Amino acid sequence: MFAVPVNTVAAEEKPALRHPARVAVAYAASRDRWRHLLRYDADERYAVLVDRTDTDEIWLMSWLPGQGEQRHDHGDTSGAFTVVHGELTEVVLRPNAVQDAGPEVNVLQAGQTRAFGPGYAHQVSNRSADPAVSLHVYRYGGRTVRPYVARAEASSRGSVG
Ligand SMILES: [Fe+2]
Repeated sequence: MFAVPVNTVAAEEKPALRHPARVAVAYAASRDRWRHLLRYDADERYAVLVDRTDTDEIWLMSWLPGQGEQRHDHGDTSGAFTVVHGELTEVVLRPNAVQDAGPEVNVLQAGQTRAFGPGYAHQVSNRSADPAVSLHVYRYGGRTVRPYVARAEASSRGSVG
């Protein structure tokens, strides 16, 4: 333990230093900020922008059973996402993974959060029998989404024509 001097004043929090996972969890807990935006789309995973700050974009997504994303990365963007309701399955794509090693699969329940840095690639889907809702934070660069092409596939494509 240590004593805090009497006149100590807490430094003002700098939003840019707040971890994206904390931002995602804070938005998840503030349902009044996004509940009016929640929809389910029978044709595809639904996504809507909830908020934009100097550093972050915060998106709300809803996933009906069987809905999911294509394999993608987020370019130079970092961020986090948290499951608000239901269950999501994330398959992490690692270009340098040991061949024959099985993919990293994360089954995320409501309240669980994943963070990611630049170049992170994954595929998220709802493999459960119930709808799911999640909140996503993208820091620096907004919601950059690029189709992911595995290195082996990319090099074989490059050799064609
Ligand atoms: Fe993603």
